[in-house]
Amino acid sequence: MSHGERPAKSHDVTAGSELAVTATLATSRRVARRFGRAAAGYDDAATVQRQICEHLWRLAQDHPPPPGAIVDAGCGTGHWLPTLSAGFGERLLVAADLAPPMLAQLRHRQPGQPCVAADVHALPLATGSAAGIWSSLCLQWCRAESVLTEFARVLESDGMLWLSTLGPQTFAELREAFADIDDASHVLDFVGVDQLEATAVRGGFEILAHDRHRHVACAPDLASLLRAIKAVGAQDVGDNRRRSLLGRKAWRTVEHRYEAFRRADGLVEVGYDALYLILRKRP
Ligand SMILES: C[S@@+](CC[C@H](N)C(=O)[O-])C[C@H]1O[C@@H](n2cnc3c(N)ncnc32)[C@H](O)[C@@H]1O
Repeated sequence: MSHGERPAKSHDVTAGSELAVTATLATSRRVARRFGRAAAGYDDAATVQRQICEHLWRLAQDHPPPPGAIVDAGCGTGHWLPTLSAGFGERLLVAADLAPPMLAQLRHRQPGQPCVAADVHALPLATGSAAGIWSSLCLQWCRAESVLTEFARVLESDGMLWLSTLGPQTFAELREAFADIDDASHVLDFVGVDQLEATAVRGGFEILAHDRHRHVACAPDLASLLRAIKAVGAQDVGDNRRRSLLGRKAWRTVEHRYEAFRRADGLVEVGYDALYLILRKRP
């Protein structure tokens, strides 16, 4: 983007997650709308999200589930279902997501795959009906305590939960670049590791393994980087999100600050602070 060009709406990104108890129904609707709009292009744009699935999968393979059904909670387009099926053997897989357009992609690509439009805060699944729940990069959009309690309800005793979410250093570069630019919150708060683990234990889980890894997305410039974040649905859902465009001067300031994150290869980057938990439901 040239200097002086009016920033597109995608510049006004507020990317991130909310794990605080302040998540509202309105937020859920916004999340569903955002991911719905991103659904058609999600698989092409979701490079970091796939890396995070791969990382979680490496951990999960050491902790297979008991026999029984597996749920992919917040499955998106369902791109990880074939891996779960191949890796954990023939068994019932159920995919759940809040955004119907994500499920439409899934049905198109994997006809016959059972899937349900559902909120992970209240899954339409019987108590103790699942042997495992895979949930990658969904929890950060939710009320963690409530979702972990719901996962514990759906899992049988000794059932496995393989979980990834985003930690507090996620989008730290954006947070720094947008700091004090206006009164809006451009990057939401992310849960800390200790808080997440304590929530899991309170929710009825035993922690078998945990990990943390920084993944990066990069692009030629800040505008492209923000467009890439938008393409996976991860923007503009904070309660204090900015509803109007940034002014040209403010945008230039942000762009200028972001040069601090330009790498030797000429690209600018943003970090995803991925947290991984392998949990077993306590009897
Ligand atoms: C970043 S995508 C991750 C998709 C997939 N798990 C992956 O690893 O690529 C987050 C997904 O979580 C879904 N999601 C967010 N909040 C949800 C909720 N409360 N209930 C169900 N799905 C939710 C979104 O619709 C979106 O498809």
